[in-house]
Amino acid sequence: MMRWMRWASRLKRRWIKGEDTKPHTIPQHVAIIMDGNGRWATLRGMPRIAGHHAGMKNVRDIALAANDMGIHILTLYAFSTENWRRPKDEVEFLMGLPEEFLHIYLDELAEKNVQVRWMGKSNGLPPHTRRAVDEAAEKTAQNTGLILNFALNYGGRHELVQAARKLAEKVARGTLKSEDIDEARFSEELYTADLPDPDLLIRTSGEMRLSNFLLWQLAYTELIFVERYWPDFTPEDLKQAILTYQTRKRRFGAL
Ligand code: IPE
Ligand code: IPE
Ligand code: MG
Repeated sequence: MMRWMRWASRLKRRWIKGEDTKPHTIPQHVAIIMDGNGRWATLRGMPRIAGHHAGMKNVRDIALAANDMGIHILTLYAFSTENWRRPKDEVEFLMGLPEEFLHIYLDELAEKNVQVRWMGKSNGLPPHTRRAVDEAAEKTAQNTGLILNFALNYGGRHELVQAARKLAEKVARGTLKSEDIDEARFSEELYTADLPDPDLLIRTSGEMRLSNFLLWQLAYTELIFVERYWPDFTPEDLKQAILTYQTRKRRFGAL
């Protein structure tokens, strides 16, 4: 905490001296596509699941670092609606990870005031996975530190379609007028209804695509792609990404 604050104030002094473009503060909401677990393991002659396990441990380190840095929301892409296409064994292993992660780290995270949440399609998740994340969310609902938001069985297109469907149902029932559907009303039907859009998206492993992540919410998000595989992504890398973010000029279409 203290080291981060000193770092932040040094940075601020640099800006005040006019060395950089307009300063931004710490991004409120950071989203990460945690990619490259499989390649990380393959490179070491290990099975892909070893990479997922290493990636799971890294979630703890990065979440605590984000919490220390004063980031408010960290949304982590943990499993996409397309990841079911992977071999059964790998999918099964991935579905066991939330439980293991929470079993090992929930107490520590809760102690640090972290609030755990998840978003995604509950339909299709094994009951044991769902129970683990639901219980963690319930246990930490009152915490006021970092919101650690897992995107689990998440697909951006699915999210948009279900929002459209919910609105259509309301119109059909007569509780909503179609002319009252605007961007704000639409957003209310998304999983992220009560969250601001991400300020910064980081994708690890060198891939430069969204892979169906937060298609609506990323409209004006700053994108940073890093070469490192997720298990190797360190708190220092997160800090570097934030520094890069802070040099960006966000215009939102204006001048
Ligand atoms: C990201 O790592 C984790 C999940 C998608 C669940 P990958 O498993 O995609 O690793 P690579 O991209 O194959 O290396
Ligand atoms: C995106 O990574 C999903 C997660 C990180 C959970 P993928 O590895 O599944 O994406 P693609 O297949 O390379 O686009
Ligand atoms: Mg991948």
